[in-house]
Amino acid sequence: MAYLIAVVAFLAVVFYLWMKTKPKNFPPGPPRFPILGSVLYLPRKYPHVVMSGKWAEKYGPVVGLMFGSRKALAVSGPKTVLEVLHRDEFQGRPVNTRVQKMLFNKRLGLIFTDGPYWQELRRFTLRHLRDFGYGRTSMESLIMQEVDDLIKEMRSKDTIQVHALFRIPALNILWAMMSGTRYSRDDEELQTILQGLDKIFRSGTQSGRFLDVFPVLRRILPESRTYKHFVDIINNLLNFVKRTVREHEQNLDENNPRDFIDTYLIQMRKQKTNAESIFTEEGLIVTCQDLFNAGGDSVDNTLGFCLLYMVLHPHVQSAVQRELDSVLGRDRRPTIEDKHRLHYVNAVITEVMRINPVVAMAVPHRVVKDTTLNGYTIPKDTFVLINFWSLLHDREHWGDPEVFRPERFLDENKTFVKDEWMISFGAGKRMCLGEALARNTVFLFFTTLLQEFSFSVPEDESTPQTLPLSGMIMAPQPFSIKISRRV
Ligand code: HEM
Repeated sequence: MAYLIAVVAFLAVVFYLWMKTKPKNFPPGPPRFPILGSVLYLPRKYPHVVMSGKWAEKYGPVVGLMFGSRKALAVSGPKTVLEVLHRDEFQGRPVNTRVQKMLFNKRLGLIFTDGPYWQELRRFTLRHLRDFGYGRTSMESLIMQEVDDLIKEMRSKDTIQVHALFRIPALNILWAMMSGTRYSRDDEELQTILQGLDKIFRSGTQSGRFLDVFPVLRRILPESRTYKHFVDIINNLLNFVKRTVREHEQNLDENNPRDFIDTYLIQMRKQKTNAESIFTEEGLIVTCQDLFNAGGDSVDNTLGFCLLYMVLHPHVQSAVQRELDSVLGRDRRPTIEDKHRLHYVNAVITEVMRINPVVAMAVPHRVVKDTTLNGYTIPKDTFVLINFWSLLHDREHWGDPEVFRPERFLDENKTFVKDEWMISFGAGKRMCLGEALARNTVFLFFTTLLQEFSFSVPEDESTPQTLPLSGMIMAPQPFSIKISRRV
């Protein structure tokens, strides 16, 4: 009897707690269970497709979710997505307990912070990256050095595997500004770190994994092999960055900063006696890690998708080459300055980023104060998933969103026209910090490669698929291309 009373009491408490977590006037969403919330309904793969399809039809553009006891929203559709990206109260970031635990157990860096710390760090980073290559002229020469290296390699090959082809070049450009260092495409240490990160990007989604929703389970369950592997990957990167920072500390000349790390270290020393200073060695390490994570695979995969659509649509590839020949000729390389003259090229790159965006959903946002959205009550600290894909594939806006058709970005005079629904880099205050670098890198690699080579599917291989690999950063499935020098 006592046993039965205990069970009933336990269930009553659970039910009470569950009822308590249900906020009044919260948006509708998939069924919720006590303790678990709606976590069983979270799609493991391609969540953006489910959110802007089945869920939007059933519940509307704002879907209410519970990750355990944590309130969350999934936002789809142009009006609501753009509104959320531009309203200040939606610009926080949730704590990523899994990652934070491994990074000094503090909220540091650019991606998973908010408020005055994030504002100051973001401003400082942008300003000082500019001093070391983020400005147009120096950025161009850093990018072209990587383009030249890849072209040399391609000249000696008939076919090449596209998977991760641009990963080290993209990181080299960024890392040159950060730490003044360049790596070769087959550098073993970097390859190991990057392959590890690729696994992390593949394994999760923005809505997190089961153990992120219930971190307490980590203390109860034995550590899985996958989790240990995850820790190893983060530690490898951490050690790599720590070593770079410590080397900079040893050779620092305060009057002659060589790169971003030096500038940060000088600022750190200047503010040594300021207890409120945001500049700490740990903060620098996490900032470098954030840029490393954000700037490599995103550019690599975008360029991978560009090559994929070129081999699948040879007539588009030829039209790009015709435009390059007529605007630039063959005697000089493309420059960033040429961008505004190459209308078809811009349309093609934009269409690739629309049809297969590498970031389909924003890095999760957090509501920083109680607010309302579409008439619903949204409490402070609600976790917000923002679906970019729902704009990029909106049928009403694009007509045939599943069709690869670069002409949709050209007007009747064949001039490139921007579309405000193209939010591949986000919008508002949390917009991508690396947009200019990413756009210029993609443009210069794409145009220079197509000026010199034609690409096709190797004769002995099947046609590559456009369905992307799911994950936090989407990627093309691995495929090879045949390289032919243009005559
Ligand atoms: C084609 C390549 C890229 C794409 C499509 C892309 C896209 C995005 C998107 C959609 C966001 C999230 C916006 C949000 O949460 O609302 C983001 C954030 C960010 N990106 Fe990029 N990105 C790219 C390349 C880069 C590069 C090269 C860098 C390195 C400088 C970079 C650094 C960042 C950082 C630091 C953030 C976090 C900003 C913040 O929270 O304040 N990204 N990016």
